[in-house]
Amino acid sequence: MAVSTRPHWLVLGAGAIGGLWALRLAAAGHPVTLLGRQAAPTRRLVLEDGNHSLSHDFPCLDHRRAQLPAAERLLVATKAGATADALAPLLPALPATLPLVLLQNGMGQEAALLAARPDLVLLPAITTAGVFCRDADTRVLAGAGQTRIGALDAAQQPLADTIAREWQAAGLATSAVTDIAAQRWQKLAVNCAINPLTVRFRCRNGALLDNPEALALMEAVCAEVAAVMQAEGLAASGDALFASAQAVAAATAANTSSMLADAEAGRATEIDFLNGHVLRCAARHGIACPVNAALVTEIAARAH
Ligand code: PAF
Repeated sequence: MAVSTRPHWLVLGAGAIGGLWALRLAAAGHPVTLLGRQAAPTRRLVLEDGNHSLSHDFPCLDHRRAQLPAAERLLVATKAGATADALAPLLPALPATLPLVLLQNGMGQEAALLAARPDLVLLPAITTAGVFCRDADTRVLAGAGQTRIGALDAAQQPLADTIAREWQAAGLATSAVTDIAAQRWQKLAVNCAINPLTVRFRCRNGALLDNPEALALMEAVCAEVAAVMQAEGLAASGDALFASAQAVAAATAANTSSMLADAEAGRATEIDFLNGHVLRCAARHGIACPVNAALVTEIAARAH
C-alpha cells in the first residue's frame, strides 16, 4: 500500500465542522486520525453533499489516554468551552513542533493553552461553512462557505499559507489572511449580536430582523463590541458591525443558531467565549458593556 506523503492530521472533535474537515482531508489523501472519547479503534463518517456522498473509516484514539502518533497538524474543532478540558491530557506531551489549528466559534480559548504551554504554535481559523450532523456519524453540507486561517505569531504565517493551500486542494475554500485577529473579532461581533438573542427570543436567525426589540439589542451589542475592538487597537464601527450582523441574520434566516441548538439540547452554550470574551476585554480597558453583560447573565442562568 502506498504511504501518503501528505501531512497527517489529528482531529480533536469530529462534530459537524471537525467531521467535514476530517472527511475532506482524508478524501484528498491526508492520513487523518480522530481524537475523542471513542472506544472503537475505527469510526466510519459519512458526508452528504447534495447528490454526492462519501465515507471514510478513520482510526480513532481516546485523547484522554492516547499516546499520539507522529503527526504534522492538530485540528481543534471542539466547542470553545471544551477546549481546555479536551486538550489537558495531551498538553504536557504535545510536541512544540505540532501546530494547533483552532477552528472554533468564539475567542479566549487560546489563553488557557498558552498559559500552560507558551511554546505552542496556534493558528486560528474561522469558517462560514454550513454543516450539520444528521446523526452521530453523518455530516450534511448545507453551504460550502469560506474559510480563513492566519497565525497569532506573524513568524508562523508561512505555515498558515501552506495549510490554506492544503485545505483549498482538499475542496475547502480557504484563504490565508494576515489579519486573523481582526477577522475573528468581526465574526465574534456577529455571533454576539445573533446567538444570544436567538436564545432570548427562541427564534431562528431571520426572525430577529422582524423583531424591533431584538434589532435594538443587536445594535446595542454591536456598539459595545465596536468600542472594545477600538480599545484593542482594531478599526471598528458599531454601525458597520450592526449592518454585518443583519446581513448574516438575513443570509442564515432559516438557521437555528448554534447557541439556540445548544440551549434546546440542554448543552453548555458558548456564551463565555462570545459575549463573555467581550466582557473580559472590556474590563481590561475599563469599558462598560451593560447589554453584553445582561445577555451573559441571562444565557448562563438558563443553562442551570
Ligand atoms: O453560531 C452560529 O449559529 C453561526 O455562526 C451563525 C452565523 C449565527 C449562523 O447561524
